[in-house]
Amino acid sequence: MMKKLNHQGKGYKVKLNIAVVGCGYWGPNLIRNFSQLSNCNVFACCDLADEKLGRIKSLYPSTMVTKNFDEILKNPDVDAIAIATPVYTHRDLAKKVLAHGKHVMVEKPLASSVDQCVELIELAEKNNKALMVGHTFEYTSAVNKAKEIIQSGELGDIYYIRSVRANLGLFQPDINVIWDLAPHDLSIILYLLDEFPIGVNGQGKAHFNPEIEDVANITLSFPNGTIAFVHNSWLDPDKIRKITIVGSKKMLVYDDISQNEKIKIYDKGVEAPPYYNSFAEFHFSYRYGDIYVPRLNQYEPLQKECEHFVDCCLNDKQPKSDGYSGLRVVSILESANKSIRNGGGKQPISFEKSVAPKTRVSKPLQYDVAVGMN
Ligand SMILES: NC(=O)c1ccc[n+]([C@@H]2O[C@H](COP(=O)([O-])OP(=O)(O)OC[C@H]3O[C@@H](n4cnc5c(N)ncnc54)[C@H](O)[C@@H]3O)[C@@H](O)[C@H]2O)c1
Repeated sequence: MMKKLNHQGKGYKVKLNIAVVGCGYWGPNLIRNFSQLSNCNVFACCDLADEKLGRIKSLYPSTMVTKNFDEILKNPDVDAIAIATPVYTHRDLAKKVLAHGKHVMVEKPLASSVDQCVELIELAEKNNKALMVGHTFEYTSAVNKAKEIIQSGELGDIYYIRSVRANLGLFQPDINVIWDLAPHDLSIILYLLDEFPIGVNGQGKAHFNPEIEDVANITLSFPNGTIAFVHNSWLDPDKIRKITIVGSKKMLVYDDISQNEKIKIYDKGVEAPPYYNSFAEFHFSYRYGDIYVPRLNQYEPLQKECEHFVDCCLNDKQPKSDGYSGLRVVSILESANKSIRNGGGKQPISFEKSVAPKTRVSKPLQYDVAVGMN
């Protein structure tokens, strides 16, 4: 880690040395984005497969590549490690990183169970290190715009949210479709609503691999009456990434596949008559108003996510998508899985609300789409 002296003669860090573990599909995206940051150096990359490392070495000749995770763990020049390996490895790898006094960013979902997430959070707090989860959509311009619109009250009370994430494949060998795809939907919904659900129902079906559901629905019930439906599938003819938010005043559709019109606001709604004396007088009135498309800032969300992680490591800030954020998502996944296996009945969520973040932050996190995301 490069250090400079401040006016009090104390050292402060200006450049973070990071290592990326897992160079399969997603890892190279992390490597590319970290290497584009002026305050970050991709010091090392690790994978178990020679061909993955060979590809990275040809793209980044000055980066050290290794199959030996311990080698980067024990290297005092490595300040932080980003983990993009299969989900079942997340806990063990992240635990070692934190135990070696380094910051860690873990791809979604944070770990395979609530207990594992709590273990990582406690270790990060004990060692005063950043623990961040790769909830990439929280860093998108579209999701931040939708949050801004909800918070402004423009949509009114939120009646329901429907989130669909479906395509043909990619089947995962170790996790079912909700552990693969729903972390995105759930992190977006929790981020948008700033609420935690009181219960969850799940239904799913495994058509190919026993116990690995390839299509599933999750229903979340929120304390204020809002309901959210998540549909995930690896068995759909179309690639769909669409979230519909229906409010008492307006409706918002976020279509992540659309290039230029990711968010549309519909001035549509239904009103029941305030009173009526006979069935003949009972008429709902339907409003079909304008549709508008807000302007969104253009940037790569992963770049913002990587930039934010480096900032948190260098400046002792709590990540926006911190360990607690990872825990909240995993707690819903765990309960949804139980519901799927138990015939779809409502499950409480095994996450103690009382587990409030004990922050390692000295300054509050400033993360404003208008400032940070141009
Ligand atoms: N944020 C996003 O939008 C996003 C998108 C895709 C994947 N992901 C996440 O990224 C992670 C990886 O997914 P992927 O699709 O890249 O998987 P992948 O199978 O393509 O790649 C995983 C890589 O990890 C390597 N690996 C496995 N165990 C290892 C170990 N112990 N040490 C070092 N390397 C090891 C494998 O050799 C492989 O190259 C998952 O958690 C996934 O959910 C996130």
